[in-house]
Amino acid sequence: MMRAWLALGSLGLMSMGSLAWADAPAAKDVQVSGRALDSTAPPTTLAQLAKDVPVHAPHAMVVSDQHYATEVGVRILRAGGNAIDAAVAVGYAQAVVNPCCGNIGGGGYLVAHMADGRNLFLDFREKAPLKATPTMFQDGQGRVMPDRSTLSYLGTGVPGTVMGLNEALQRYGTMKLAQVIQPAIDLARNGFVLQQGDVNIFNRRVKDFAKEPNVAAIFLNHGQPWQVGETLRQPELARTLESIRDGGSKAFYHGPIAQAVVKASQANGGLLSLRDFADYTVQWDSPVQCDYHGYHLVSAPPPSSGGVTVCEILLQLQPYPLAKWGYASAQAIHYQVEAERRAFADRNSVLGDPAFVHNPIAELLSPAHIAKLQSTIQPVKATPSSEIKGDLDGSEGTNTTHYSVVDAKGNAVGVTYTINFLFGTGHIAGDTGFFLNDEMDDFTSKPGVPNAFGLVQGKANQVEPGKRPLSSMTPTVVLKNGKVFMVTGSPGGSTIISTVLQSILNVTQYGMNVQQAVNAPRMHHQWYPDQVNVEPGLLTPQVQQQLEQAGYRFHTVNSWGADEAILVDPSGGLDGANDRRRPAGLAAGY
Ligand code: GLY
Repeated sequence: MMRAWLALGSLGLMSMGSLAWADAPAAKDVQVSGRALDSTAPPTTLAQLAKDVPVHAPHAMVVSDQHYATEVGVRILRAGGNAIDAAVAVGYAQAVVNPCCGNIGGGGYLVAHMADGRNLFLDFREKAPLKATPTMFQDGQGRVMPDRSTLSYLGTGVPGTVMGLNEALQRYGTMKLAQVIQPAIDLARNGFVLQQGDVNIFNRRVKDFAKEPNVAAIFLNHGQPWQVGETLRQPELARTLESIRDGGSKAFYHGPIAQAVVKASQANGGLLSLRDFADYTVQWDSPVQCDYHGYHLVSAPPPSSGGVTVCEILLQLQPYPLAKWGYASAQAIHYQVEAERRAFADRNSVLGDPAFVHNPIAELLSPAHIAKLQSTIQPVKATPSSEIKGDLDGSEGTNTTHYSVVDAKGNAVGVTYTINFLFGTGHIAGDTGFFLNDEMDDFTSKPGVPNAFGLVQGKANQVEPGKRPLSSMTPTVVLKNGKVFMVTGSPGGSTIISTVLQSILNVTQYGMNVQQAVNAPRMHHQWYPDQVNVEPGLLTPQVQQQLEQAGYRFHTVNSWGADEAILVDPSGGLDGANDRRRPAGLAAGY
């Protein structure tokens, strides 16, 4: 096998003990931000990537995957609001202009680094209804019925977004709810003009919209799909948002909105009750933190798996010279995949809602555990996932949305929130105007059995009344010398973790600017299935061949994730990047 690799290239070897990876044949190196990217990726991709430049703003920046929402955030910042005010305004605006993913019917996480040095984490993840049971997605014979957790009212957890946004504003914002929610109300009542990027997402579920009259009345235009240039108005959602403006979280959790959702749930076999809404709480907690080559990560702890898993991967990668090996080189991919494989094995076996299970975060990130994982990585051979201890695994949905805000004072906020699938269950309760989440699908429906997206997890994440499903959402602030360096995060289920990881590596190791970092082709491995998902353009045929000879199996997936990131420009100001995978998005500032 060794000889075959050597035959592929003769441009030098990277020695790793007695075995070595041969360099794949190099074209000419492409300079990006002063450092050479590995030149073995296809020239078209590299050539395009080399031209990518971020949006620069001298003071403050908002990046989200819907341009109207970004503009709302910038207006709030210009009006004197801080990053929390803007984040709450963007959250409500996204619920209107990005209804697949932005939401008031779902939940999420907020991570912040405040200019005074405080690091914050707010958990507003959905909770399972009090009547939920571990076997609720199985039939009488113990078979998992996937549609129950994804398309039916059983899939809906108690939404957390409204309480989460309002709590963040009340605790750390400077503006009134009426001020930050009004732009969303205006967008819902007056409408907004659809772009190609919006319509593309709507078209993914247009057939489902036709199935229910109250959904079709909004998300179809007289029975036909909405077209580019048309104006979508959402008067029902405007009324719901006005109730929240006037009555705060109480209007959502104790009034007619909760009643409408419960009524629809009970009429359609769901479990939600008024008590579920009345009992719902959000939670401030300490972010998970770790250090990587002088950078300090502040990220989401359980019930997200995101921060722990990104840290566990980075800590394993710390000793390896990724920058020297180069972006998309065989060596870098080998070590990244092996680190991901091992961290995901832990993630899928032991993590869950901290209110229900013990999460051994300190142990997972301890030098002893990291060293143990590293010792099992073979220099030039893929380790079959069957040889890695851990219970089970799989993948999650590819939806959700992330946005980043940095204000002129240096407060930095990342929010990732979701209704899980695009447009959640696809159901809207009565005339509330908002889609309900299918976040219950993030739970383990049955240990050992994959869910609709192949996710197979352990008992730590089984359904229990009032429990929050394990998530992969990873809003992250990266600090350097105690100051904000980068804000990053992404949609994409379990691929969120590898997306955030790669954006950080692309900037810190491969010298990319933030636009290049989020646009660059990605890869993902999550223990099971034992395959590496790759976006087109990441691997040259030579690198792929080397890795296949080492035992890797590749699966091409067109694209995933959408990192809406901000990087502090060392020469002053901020660089923002809307991911090329979300053409309706925007980075903007002042
Ligand atoms: N719903 C996807 C996640 O939270 O990871």
